[in-house]
Amino acid sequence: MVIHKDVEKILISNEEIAKRCKELGNELSNYYKNEVPITVGLLKGSVPFMAELVKNIAIDVEMDFMDVSSYSGTESTEVKIIKDLECPIKDRSVLIVEDVIDTGKTLKTVKELLYTKGAKEVKIVCLLDKPARREVDISADWTGFVIPDEFVIGFGLDYNQKYRNLPYVGVIKKSAI
Ligand code: IMP
Ligand code: MG
Repeated sequence: MVIHKDVEKILISNEEIAKRCKELGNELSNYYKNEVPITVGLLKGSVPFMAELVKNIAIDVEMDFMDVSSYSGTESTEVKIIKDLECPIKDRSVLIVEDVIDTGKTLKTVKELLYTKGAKEVKIVCLLDKPARREVDISADWTGFVIPDEFVIGFGLDYNQKYRNLPYVGVIKKSAI
């Protein structure tokens, strides 16, 4: 496979992601076997992960998306709702699908917001977790991979809106920042 010129090294290959999404899909199918959860993807970073994950969920699920902005460049900033949900979630089980938990501010805010809208239960599944960067008390209920404190791109993750389409998760070259 040809590695993008701005990628220093591949951290997680497409094959590893596919394998992990199968495992997560099995766990989620088992956890939600008695109900139809609403998976809520946070745009835009969750899109490739959401697509890979739902293909491996064997029960019925509904899908919705929210767009919240919490990032500019390489440092977290404030959380702002840009696109809200379309489905009512009152008394429903909601599964937030996110690319990465970094400081945790985004997920903490979104989780609280979904409870305010009347969700019965809000769980989180994250492709990546960077525990070293956490600033607020939040954790994912299911995690794909725990990664070190490095700025990563690919499989949904961007740097200035680029690289989301890379089929792997990689570390960006210093020269590309
Ligand atoms: P948090 O609120 O600090 O947890 O930020 C989470 C958001 O920051 C994620 O949804 C990503 O959009 C972005 N983010 C955090 N770390 C990275 C990274 O290494 N690469 C690209 N985006 C990141
Ligand atoms: Mg994001």
